[in-house]
Amino acid sequence: MKWIDEAIFYQVYPQSFKDSNGDGIGDFGGIVSKLDYIRNTGFNAIWINPCFESPFLDAGYDITDYYKTAERYGTINDLRGLFDEVHKRDMHVILDLVPGHTSYLHPWFLKSMSRDKNDCTDRYVWTDYVGRDVENVTGVTGWLRGISDRNGACAVNYKACQPALNFGFGKVTDEYGWQQSPADAGPRANIEEMKKIMSFWLDLGCDGFRVDMAGSLVKNDDEQYETIKIWDEINGYIHEKYPEAVTISEWGEPSRALRGGFDADFLLSFGPSHYMDLFRNDNMLDFKSGTHFFSKRGKGDLTNFKAAYEGFYEQAKKGGMICIPSGNHDIPRMAPQMDEDEIKLAFVFLMTFAGAPFVYYGDEIGMRYIEKLPSVEGGYHRTGARTPMQWDKSKNCGFSDGKSENLYLPVDPDENRPDVASQIEDNTSIYNTVRKLIKLRKQYKCLGNKGDLKFLEVSAESYPLVYERSYGGESMVVIINPCERCVECDLGDIGEIIYQIGGEPRTEAEKIKVMPCSAFIAKYKNKAV
Ligand code: NOJ
Repeated sequence: MKWIDEAIFYQVYPQSFKDSNGDGIGDFGGIVSKLDYIRNTGFNAIWINPCFESPFLDAGYDITDYYKTAERYGTINDLRGLFDEVHKRDMHVILDLVPGHTSYLHPWFLKSMSRDKNDCTDRYVWTDYVGRDVENVTGVTGWLRGISDRNGACAVNYKACQPALNFGFGKVTDEYGWQQSPADAGPRANIEEMKKIMSFWLDLGCDGFRVDMAGSLVKNDDEQYETIKIWDEINGYIHEKYPEAVTISEWGEPSRALRGGFDADFLLSFGPSHYMDLFRNDNMLDFKSGTHFFSKRGKGDLTNFKAAYEGFYEQAKKGGMICIPSGNHDIPRMAPQMDEDEIKLAFVFLMTFAGAPFVYYGDEIGMRYIEKLPSVEGGYHRTGARTPMQWDKSKNCGFSDGKSENLYLPVDPDENRPDVASQIEDNTSIYNTVRKLIKLRKQYKCLGNKGDLKFLEVSAESYPLVYERSYGGESMVVIINPCERCVECDLGDIGEIIYQIGGEPRTEAEKIKVMPCSAFIAKYKNKAV
């Protein structure tokens, strides 16, 4: 058994979590000071967004040195200290690995811009002539040209500040010889460098990585076959050298990612998973229409989500997990798309579903997405999901002692904004709901990461959502009805109810009547057994 089998993750966006030195930006010291909070809530693992040297044009996903921490967060020794403090509390910590691109200011990229051949010439995806772009190649989002002596255009992996590291092409289509194969020297050097970077941080004491845009490595790669091969090699190397290390991909297609040797893959806001059907409206910046499943309107539809999940689950049964996050730094938060009741029910789902759950900092108290904030560090529409953590009612919500005008981002201006201190005191808060659910998840293995999962009732616009979880002879059924009307389900005999929120269910004419905006978990003996 690996630690991820029992992991419940908390995602820390370091800029906004806790500032320990009053400069208005979160740091390693701040994270350490809140480890007890994270642990007392029930989490036993954390993921920290990139904390490496960077000009921060994309919040640190634009690295200039993979082996250095960003000064604003602290020194490498501070980070080592953080690892120790995490481990003292029997927790684990994963860092963010960004393998697909660097900053355009990375010394490797600057060197690759030179017209003279050198050891970085082939480290990025360059064409052979400045007039030849990298158009119509899958995995390439743009290109840079006219910025160097080198006569060529360089492919971009995400934004213009993020030139693509070269991992080769799955299918070579150019006649001029600039597209390389994954076996060529440049791609090989990058593969070896990733192993070195991962080893460096694992040696220092981290427990693994969340891997950014893991599916983006090889360009023009049908079915991502070559990318899977590269990850199989890197993960194979890492898992052999560090058997305890965990790698989790930001890929969004577990049926591919897990074949590449990842311990787990995330469901994402993009890709085929229909993750967004759970907690976000069709247009993710629309806060009103309530088209998602966990809306009281009761118009949501999880049939596509279920079909995709079941497909992924077949792969996961062979090894590996599927992770469902409450949110992350790239999408609007659940609130205000969801109200307090809806968020609590979403947490019933997250904490009773298979795979390792991830909770984005602040979601455990129902922090809001703040609309129309000016973009900071390349956040654009994502900025509103990155505001400072709301710890209490003191200055800057207890996030920082610094001047309010110097904060990384302003705190939520709403006087009624939620905060940790108040929610801890309120037994019915979102926070205490999450805490109780985590406790149950730990108590009953069948509700945990590795318990089997079977959907029992899911059809178009159909409520409630019902699924069975089982492990080692024990089974439970989870029934969630986010909508405002009373609904029915037919489950035969259910056993003792071990958790309930919202109204109490009733049995009438052999059917279970599930009250509006309610959920319960019961011991279960499947009808068929
Ligand atoms: C995914 C990250 O989550 C996002 O924040 C980042 O901008 C892109 N990858 C590029 O690294």
